[in-house]
Amino acid sequence: MTTARQTQTDQIGNHNQAIFVIGVSGTGKSTIAKALSDAIDGNFLDADDFHSADNVASMASGVPLTDDMRAGWLQDVCDATLAQNTNTTVACSALKKIYRDAIRARVANCRFVFLDVNTQVLAQRIASRTAHYMPVGLLASQLQTLQLPAPDETDIVTIDGTLPIKAIIQKAIVWHQLRV
Ligand SMILES: Nc1ncnc2c1ncn2[C@@H]1O[C@H](COP(=O)(O)OP(=O)(O)OP(=O)(O)O)[C@@H](O)[C@H]1O
Ligand SMILES: [Mg+2]
Repeated sequence: MTTARQTQTDQIGNHNQAIFVIGVSGTGKSTIAKALSDAIDGNFLDADDFHSADNVASMASGVPLTDDMRAGWLQDVCDATLAQNTNTTVACSALKKIYRDAIRARVANCRFVFLDVNTQVLAQRIASRTAHYMPVGLLASQLQTLQLPAPDETDIVTIDGTLPIKAIIQKAIVWHQLRV
């Protein structure tokens, strides 16, 4: 049986470690991916920075992105990850398994940290942010879209995103046996 940890033949790229920090809005993807990149002396990318102007306008007006709207964006995120050619962490929602599979198909040796946070804390976190285009109203659709990691997605570690940031980083490093 092929497991998610195994290298795919159609992958490209030459980087060492690519860790995608995933979850719905407000779980702390950007915060944790940045802190993790500092800890492993790598680069940090935020998938939000790769959205087209149309995608950003759609999200800002409260309209969820379709799979088609995400396809080109995900490809750009993967290509940017591969272009780093060094240890890289990526904040990227990757809510559905097909999105995670698209990443797996393109980025060699990618692994995932899924941040799990309850709805009440998520709403509080999003409401208290000012400089961000994601409105609270999109949270419900994100939670509906979310496909929790399946048992065969063995390249994902689920971590309680309400833990202190340092504890989350430590768990990710230990689980994925990252070089620090
Ligand atoms: N472990 C944590 N403990 C307490 N607060 C946290 C933690 N992680 C993140 N936060 C805070 O929660 C808020 C949301 O975090 P962040 O912006 O990183 O989430 P996100 O998943 O990147 O959201 P989005 O998908 O909307 O970009 C921020 O104000 C951040 O400081
Ligand atoms: Mg973010």
